[in-house]
Amino acid sequence: MMTPEQINLAVIGLGYVGLPLAVEFGKKRPVVGFDIHQGRIEALKKGHDATLEVEDEELASAKHLSYTYNLDDLKACNVFIVTVPTPIDEHKKPDLTPLVKASETIGKVLKKGDIVIYESTVYPGATEEDCVPVLEKVSGLKFNQDFFAGYSPERINPGDKEHRVTTIRKVTSGSTPEVAEVVDKLYNEIITVGTHKASSIKVAEAAKVIENTQRDLNIALINELALIFNKMDIDTESVLLAAGTKWNFLPFRPGLVGGHCIGVDPYYLTHKAQSIGYHPEIILAGRRLNDSMGEYVASQLVKSLLKKRIQVDGAKILLLGLTFKENCPDLRNTKVVDIIKELKEYNIEVDVYDPWIDAEEAQHEYGITPIDFLEDGKYDGVILAVAHKQFKDMGIDAIRKLGKPAHVVYDLKYLFAPEQTDLRL
Ligand SMILES: NC(=O)c1ccc[n+]([C@@H]2O[C@H](COP(=O)([O-])OP(=O)(O)OC[C@H]3O[C@@H](n4cnc5c(N)ncnc54)[C@H](O)[C@@H]3O)[C@@H](O)[C@H]2O)c1
Repeated sequence: MMTPEQINLAVIGLGYVGLPLAVEFGKKRPVVGFDIHQGRIEALKKGHDATLEVEDEELASAKHLSYTYNLDDLKACNVFIVTVPTPIDEHKKPDLTPLVKASETIGKVLKKGDIVIYESTVYPGATEEDCVPVLEKVSGLKFNQDFFAGYSPERINPGDKEHRVTTIRKVTSGSTPEVAEVVDKLYNEIITVGTHKASSIKVAEAAKVIENTQRDLNIALINELALIFNKMDIDTESVLLAAGTKWNFLPFRPGLVGGHCIGVDPYYLTHKAQSIGYHPEIILAGRRLNDSMGEYVASQLVKSLLKKRIQVDGAKILLLGLTFKENCPDLRNTKVVDIIKELKEYNIEVDVYDPWIDAEEAQHEYGITPIDFLEDGKYDGVILAVAHKQFKDMGIDAIRKLGKPAHVVYDLKYLFAPEQTDLRL
């Protein structure tokens, strides 16, 4: 089995997960950072990370990290960490295409003794049942004789400057006990808070997917509570703050569940469960409820406009925030678009303002042209959809100024005190 000194590392897929990881390793040892997206590679070579996860200075500090989209540059590597996307398709089924393609790429350069470690979120079994066969087929090598596998899920939280790759405990695993040891040692080079060596690849895969499934269900429960309390005119946050004084009450808040993790990963688990004859009820019920929140928000806003005798047909609404979460530019699978879609059904005009996003990406992904400056006195309603710090900093007075004399401010994110806005989730 290879020693740490013999490892020549490659990271395949330099996105939100792959780049910070490659940077940490690249501060300590040579790393080949590989991505099929040439534009991404060019930008990184120029020293800038468009996801804003790694600041320019930090990127420059990864002295031993090189960037490439050229397969030949992977030939000298013997440990490959795969961090490509694992999305779902339009039927909410796992789409393993990027994982399969990345495995084909690695298969072309795989040699005896090499180790392939997957980090992408999957269902239990995906590494050994879906990826390894591709590696075997393309390379002609035999699994666990000629080459080995590992799985070490990523837990980073984009936009979170406190929980970074190095300060989040990492689960590791390997296809044999010896490989598990090599994988574990490798990650310990960069993870300052230590690792947890799982007993198998399947255990590590299952652990990751249930972390996000648990979050999804916890949010679904709180969303259901919000629906109930809203009907009773009870402020949900006040209830949650009161209940939260008990030591074991979990601090979840209601909201839209977007992004490529929490709203997506449970479908990996439910897909696998269904394929082995178990039909999950609770997990999918949570998914359905969370996916219906955009529609609910729109209907609440419309009711509130009507109560204030503001004409709904042709009303002008401003949405503050488009990203799937606060303080990052990530637009993937944002559920704010569900609100927009639903408002348009009422013939409401919607402006979207988000200081974090790339306007071209918003146009390309969702056909939305965001506005780039805010005009006072223009809107019948303002929805605080994302808790970007800029919106909090604006203060409620500046936000109210954007409205016409009669308007509704709907605070989905509890950015302001209950009495400062007209409507809350
Ligand atoms: N972003 C997160 O917060 C987060 C957290 C934990 C786990 N994850 C998981 O990590 C994985 C990666 O997510 P991400 O957010 O970094 O995705 P991303 O879309 O930001 O990055 C993926 C990168 O992989 C590249 N890529 C795609 N196919 C490729 C291929 N065949 N060969 C080489 N490169 C390829 C893309 O060009 C892109 O740069 C997913 O499974 C995700 O569920 C993400």
